[in-house]
Amino acid sequence: MTTDAKETVVIVVGAGPSGLSTAASLHKLSIPYIILEREDCIASLFNKKAYDRLHLHLAKQFCQLAHMPFPATYPTYVSRSDFLKYLDHYASHFKINPKFRNTVQFAKYDEDRKKWWVEAAVEDGGVRCYAGRFLVVATGENSDVFIPEVDGLSEFKGEVIHSTEYKSGKGYENKKVLVVGAGNSGMEIALDLSNHGAKTAIVVRSPVHISSRWSINFGLSLLRFIPLDWVDLLLVLLGKVMYGDLSKYGIQRPKEGPILIKIRDGKYPVINVGTVKKIKYGEIQVLPALKSIKHGGNEVVFENGTCHQFDAILFATGFKRSTHLWLRGGDCLLNKDGFPQQMYPNHWKGENGLYCAGLARRGLHTAAMDAQNIAHHIFNVISK
Ligand SMILES: Cc1cc2nc3c(=O)[nH]c(=O)nc-3n(C[C@H](O)[C@H](O)[C@H](O)COP(=O)(O)OP(=O)(O)OC[C@H]3O[C@@H](n4cnc5c(N)ncnc54)[C@H](O)[C@@H]3O)c2cc1C
Ligand SMILES: *[C@@H]1O[C@H](CO)[C@@H](O)[C@H](O)[C@H]1NC(C)=O
Repeated sequence: MTTDAKETVVIVVGAGPSGLSTAASLHKLSIPYIILEREDCIASLFNKKAYDRLHLHLAKQFCQLAHMPFPATYPTYVSRSDFLKYLDHYASHFKINPKFRNTVQFAKYDEDRKKWWVEAAVEDGGVRCYAGRFLVVATGENSDVFIPEVDGLSEFKGEVIHSTEYKSGKGYENKKVLVVGAGNSGMEIALDLSNHGAKTAIVVRSPVHISSRWSINFGLSLLRFIPLDWVDLLLVLLGKVMYGDLSKYGIQRPKEGPILIKIRDGKYPVINVGTVKKIKYGEIQVLPALKSIKHGGNEVVFENGTCHQFDAILFATGFKRSTHLWLRGGDCLLNKDGFPQQMYPNHWKGENGLYCAGLARRGLHTAAMDAQNIAHHIFNVISK
């Protein structure tokens, strides 16, 4: 190892909401840090990889970063552009200046020097080195796109995109578009496509809870007063009253409740923004799991044997993490899939000054708590 590295106390990797909350919390305690970000902007997921009509799914009190509430003038459900304005203001208020276009590709604890050694790829193929006593992984649950392997996909004649590349339904009018994945992104993008005149179908492979924005936020606030099982029972009941039995449209409800699934598997219930009505009116078709693409064509084969032609396939199939590719010796903190080894609320702290923020699959609220816990812990260690 060379010694030609920029030295600091804390190295934060990732300038999304979690990294920004961490930076602000460190700043408040006057702890020096460096924040590294592979893109050229903060919160790249919301800046560059989200569709135009996106609003935060949860009410604003659940989505604030550390130490700064949303402006009182903001509506309950914050739009993408308002969220970005808030984040810009946040970064300038706490004097956060990430080192952009620094893609961390290696990090290891140096036992001799008792420091983390971090290498980042920068523009023009160079590598920049950093050394710090503490390392905070804030690279997000959604750091890398995930598209499942589908037989014949590479030969599909139409367009293939991931939900992160989708902005709006403009340009898809009268096109036949297949959305794969019925999470929040898939359901909302299907609605947007259909609103723009695309002939839209959506693959709903596994059972899914559909709730309204209102009932989920109501449920979350009730959690403080009544047990989780009861909240889940109530949410399922509300869902039945609001949407009826959707199984005749190809949408099944899971046996377990929405909050339990959210907390245990990190899977959000789908918050209906109008898609259900379109499905009931037959304006959006529900299809079973994908089987393959007919070689060299634009015909898609489904699990139950039916075939349909499409002009485009949009994969709203989620994300994977890549920490295992660059973080050495982090096994006590993160598993192979990049999620914490320890259950919440003990998920954020590893060994040798290693931490993670925003990986507990509990949304922005817990990410802000992680950030404050980490900053306080570091403060206590260095004050000793
Ligand atoms: C469409 C969409 C809507 C969402 N809506 C909500 C919502 O309403 N409420 C909610 O709580 N959550 C929501 N989420 C979940 C959301 O991902 C998180 O809440 C939030 O983005 C987490 O912030 P983060 O900082 O942990 O991760 P991210 O926002 O993903 O930020 C991580 C940053 O790290 C950078 N990075 C990654 N790897 C490296 C590397 N090797 N080197 C340097 N930099 C790196 C990335 O470029 C990125 O900027 C939504 C997600 C999506 C995709
Ligand atoms: C396959 O599933 C679709 C959508 O659920 C349905 O319309 C079609 O009838 C099914 N075909 C067969 C052969 O079961």
